[in-house]
Amino acid sequence: MANVVVVGAQWGDEGKGKIVDWLSERADVIARFQGGHNAGHTLVIGGTVYKLNALPSGVVRPDKLSVIGNGVVLDPWHLVEEIASIRAQGVEIGPETLMIAENTPLILPIHGELDRAREAVASPDAKIGTTGRGIGPAYEDKVGRRSVRVADLADDATLEARIDRALLHHDALRRGLGLDPVDRATLLARLREVAPEILQYAAPVWKVLNEKRKAGRRILFEGAQGALLDIDFGTYPFVTSSNVIAGQAATGVGVGPGAIDFVLGIVKAYTTRVGEGPFPTELNDDDGQRLGERGHEFGTVTGRKRRCGWFDAVLVRQTCATSGVNGIALTKLDVLDGFETLRICTGYDLDGKRLDHLPTAADEQARCVPLYEEMPGWNESTEGARRWADLPANAIKYVRRVEELIDCPVALLSTSPERDDTILVTDPFAD
Ligand code: IMP
Repeated sequence: MANVVVVGAQWGDEGKGKIVDWLSERADVIARFQGGHNAGHTLVIGGTVYKLNALPSGVVRPDKLSVIGNGVVLDPWHLVEEIASIRAQGVEIGPETLMIAENTPLILPIHGELDRAREAVASPDAKIGTTGRGIGPAYEDKVGRRSVRVADLADDATLEARIDRALLHHDALRRGLGLDPVDRATLLARLREVAPEILQYAAPVWKVLNEKRKAGRRILFEGAQGALLDIDFGTYPFVTSSNVIAGQAATGVGVGPGAIDFVLGIVKAYTTRVGEGPFPTELNDDDGQRLGERGHEFGTVTGRKRRCGWFDAVLVRQTCATSGVNGIALTKLDVLDGFETLRICTGYDLDGKRLDHLPTAADEQARCVPLYEEMPGWNESTEGARRWADLPANAIKYVRRVEELIDCPVALLSTSPERDDTILVTDPFAD
């Protein structure tokens, strides 16, 4: 039985929600392994739109187990709200269908405050453009060994000790940023109030998943963000604070690396980025505007306009390598309908030298000039195509060229937000 990891292979917003939903029908367990409610996954099922942040996409399917792994940072109050809003859409969620790893670190209000305060004081070129949801500070506390974790909610003395440890650090930081000290009593009261809501889902996820594996159950590991936002391999420091690449799927839930059988990289047929940082193929012209409008490129979490640009094969070849991608799901091809000419970045010019990868140094990244090859576009609509035969010849040529340049085959082609508008080439779950 295969277990599949889904990772974004660009800067996030590649359309993972739909693909994860599509695959979750074939899976028994859907597990989130990193990130937090900075993610925004949109599912469209039978005309109903579900917007998810922290909940795994499998949660809309009552017969599946959805798991929030220890690699995630969890805002308990946001989760309670998210569960309530999904329930209001008629979806049943309970401890039988949702599990949260006991060792998951919590995002507290102080993390969001710190995130936003630091962004506010940063000079324009040092701003990361974070979602402001406290993701970075929560991960800092995790590696700083001062997190409050889900299991800590069960014992009041432990909870107080954890809070005191965290506040020692945070109050010092807040003083430097001109923020008031943390109101300890209010924070503890809010945590005590939310504790039972969260604890009902708490479980030793590593154990449950290893048992499921032994019983032959299929696990779908659901990534958030994209590999170019990875803390190690992304465009540092303009990245998120977790590992996003496929290797994180194992550590983010507590299974061995051998549990991963297929890595599906989600790739948009062009490129977008939300937030600051280098973006070699960015278009600040009519073509960029058109991609944004046709692709509805606005952040689902922050509402920010996404930056848009041509497909960058250099970056995707790189992310396919760092995540060991076995096949890609190519999304939003229809957004390219009607362009007379399309451009694909095949390398960079850095100070007169041709590069076949993105350099690591931030100043070099900023100086990379994309080298393009041009391809003829197509006028026909590809929206909703369900067979290769429905696609115009030039669209097929574009897809084939993408495969060649990124050195990875297309496993799925998505041609609209509707789950059934998908062309299947290789089933990632096939034995
Ligand atoms: P943070 O994750 O809120 O710390 O934000 C760090 C960077 O990651 C910013 O550029 C955000 O715009 C970006 N980011 C975080 N989550 C997502 C996502 O789900 N999609 C796209 N970009 C994201």
